Amino acid sequence: MLKDKHITVYVTGGIAAYKTLNIVRKLIKQQALVQVVMTESAQKFITPLTFATLSQRPVITDNFTPQTENDDFIPHIKVALWTDLAIVVPATANIIGKMANGLADDIASTSLLATKAPKLVFPAMNTDMYDNPAVQHNLTVLKQMNVQIVEPATGFLAEGMTGKGRLPELDTIMTNIEAQFNEKKLAGKKVIVTAGGTKEAIDPVRFIGNRSSGKMGFAMAEVARDLGAEVTLITTVTASLPGINVIQVQTAEEMMKQLQDVFPTADVLIMAAAVADFKPVNVADQKIKKNDDEDIFTIKLTKNPDILQNVAATKTKQFVVGFAAETQNLLENAEKKLNKKNADVILANNVAQADAGFNVDTNKVTLLQKNHEPVSWPLMSKIDVAQKFWEFYINKVEK
Ligand code: PMT
Repeated sequence: MLKDKHITVYVTGGIAAYKTLNIVRKLIKQQALVQVVMTESAQKFITPLTFATLSQRPVITDNFTPQTENDDFIPHIKVALWTDLAIVVPATANIIGKMANGLADDIASTSLLATKAPKLVFPAMNTDMYDNPAVQHNLTVLKQMNVQIVEPATGFLAEGMTGKGRLPELDTIMTNIEAQFNEKKLAGKKVIVTAGGTKEAIDPVRFIGNRSSGKMGFAMAEVARDLGAEVTLITTVTASLPGINVIQVQTAEEMMKQLQDVFPTADVLIMAAAVADFKPVNVADQKIKKNDDEDIFTIKLTKNPDILQNVAATKTKQFVVGFAAETQNLLENAEKKLNKKNADVILANNVAQADAGFNVDTNKVTLLQKNHEPVSWPLMSKIDVAQKFWEFYINKVEK
């Protein structure tokens, strides 16, 4: 897939720069043509010679000195025009800030500003830096400019803390890179994805919710977009995903209403949202005060509509996919949902398992469809689950 593709890898100054060596190796193994560009800080971590050896061509480190005798004096424009895909990995807060604000004061920032190629950015830094509103603002600006950002993973960081900021695993990085060159096998398809947990108000400040982060649904939406689909994402999680029409909702009823508006013209629905089964019967107008005489406070709940079941009942041509979040009897319960909710496929996840389900970057899924044996997939990143699902869909439905 990557054969003869011109990929420029921008390495900026973070400790994760050593991991970029493996990315370059993988790209070369897949016969991509790789040009590495390094900032001055990146060269403090790894020498250009190491990247030059692995990428089989000189590394560009400087805007003013020709690297070889055949070079001209404007390497930033040359590399900008040569590039099919620009990858910034690791991306520091500094390069993210420069890209978001159009600053260009070294070879990396000038050629990133000059290139019209798609850009894929892998932020990696200390958690507090990543969470800093300035960095988050710059990332939002980049997304609005259609730059794709791959969120860092959570885990042990070089400074000894555990938190969000690690470069994702190599497989996840490669999946994201390969996705840029995906054949647009879902071109012309309208896909709706729901994501995140619904929030059912108790009073103006409190709600009943759950631990869903939206990651699984976002992955489904992003991979569908990369395959050329027109994607609508209905979500309770604040999100800005380039190339995706995002509809923000809070409650199950809002989600159902928005879904009913777009479902009739859709080709595929993926219900990855964790919808609250119940909501309070009454929502207090004012914040509920605690009463010193009462140790127990009771909230009366009523059933929410089952969105999947209601919407699937109206399906004509649509391929409808639900998830089943189970903590026991995974297959048995998922099978019941497959039949009761009239879904074409149920993706069952055991949310009691440590690395699967809610608010983690990985998932372990079993695919169920009527009259077929269940197929279990190994533990993998949510992006890989999405990639695998869309491969399944294309092979089953589109062929
Ligand atoms: O968001 P993440 O942190 O990445 O976590 C992902 C996930 C665990 C939330 C996701 O993989 C998942 O399992 N989503 C479905 C959660 C859920 O509500 O499961 P359920 O078994 O209760 O419901 C079965 C199906 O019916 C789901 O597709 C659900 O969206 C749908 N449903 C449920 C209740 C309801 N009232 N209306 C519905 O449409």
